[in-house]
Amino acid sequence: MRQQIAAANWKMNLTYQQGEELLDTILAEDITLSTHQRAVFAVPFPYLTMAQLRLAGKKHYAAAAQNCSDKKSGAYTGEVSAEMLKSIHIQYCVLGHSERREYFSEQNDTLAHKTAICLANGITPIFCCGEPLAIREAGIQTGFVETQLKESLFQFSEEEIRKIVIAYEPIWAIGTGKTASAHQAQEMHAHIRATLAAKYSPATANHIPILYGGSVKAGNAAELFALPDVDGGLVGGASLVAADFAQIIRALK
Ligand code: 13P
Repeated sequence: MRQQIAAANWKMNLTYQQGEELLDTILAEDITLSTHQRAVFAVPFPYLTMAQLRLAGKKHYAAAAQNCSDKKSGAYTGEVSAEMLKSIHIQYCVLGHSERREYFSEQNDTLAHKTAICLANGITPIFCCGEPLAIREAGIQTGFVETQLKESLFQFSEEEIRKIVIAYEPIWAIGTGKTASAHQAQEMHAHIRATLAAKYSPATANHIPILYGGSVKAGNAAELFALPDVDGGLVGGASLVAADFAQIIRALK
C-alpha cells in the first residue's frame, strides 16, 4: 500500500513549552502505526531537536521542517539550509506552502530549487500545491495545479519524483473552516495522479502519496482519508489540539 501520512503543520504557533506539552499529550495516546503509515510534525525550526528527541522512540513518527533555503550555504542571514536539516537528521521538509507563496513570494522556479536541494540531501519534500478561490470559481483549477507541478517538479527523474510527497491544499479551504467536498478533493487528487502518470508512469503515480490539506478536522478526516487518491492530510489548526490530531492520525487508512 502507498504510504499514508498524517502531517501536522504547526505554522508559527505555540511556545516551546506548549509544543512540548502538545507532543507529549499526543504521544501519550500511544497510537501504533503500521509500516505504511507515518505521523509527521512540521514544527518551527527552534523546536526541531526537541520534537525529534520526543519522537525518537516511536516507530514511524518524525519531525519535519516547514521550509528551507533554496541556497546551498553562505551569506544568507536568517536562512536555514537543507544541509543543516540533514545534519540533525530531519527526514521531511514542507515546501511551497501557500502561505510562503503568498507572504514570501515563493515562485514555482524557486520551489524547483528547494525541492532539488532537499532531494540532494536525502530529505523528503512535502510539496504543496493548490489554487486560490478566484481560480476555483473560474473553473480552471486543474490547469493551475498542473502548472505548479510542471514548473517545480517535472525536471526530476522518475527515481527522484518517487521520493516526493505532494500535498494538495486548496487555498480557499485553509484556516477558513471550509473543506473541499469529498468529490472536489478526490477529483483533484485523481487529476494530480493522472498528471504524474502521464509524465512518468502509472506505477510511479501510484507510489506517490498525495495528502489533502485545508480544514482537515477530527470530524472529517476519516471521510477524506478514505477517498481512493487521498493518502492522509497536512493539517494546520486541528494539529494544535492533541485529542484532535490523535484522532486524525487514527483516521489514516
Ligand atoms: P488548516 O488545517 O488550519 O486549514 O490549515 C491547512 C494548512 O495550511 C496545512 O498546511
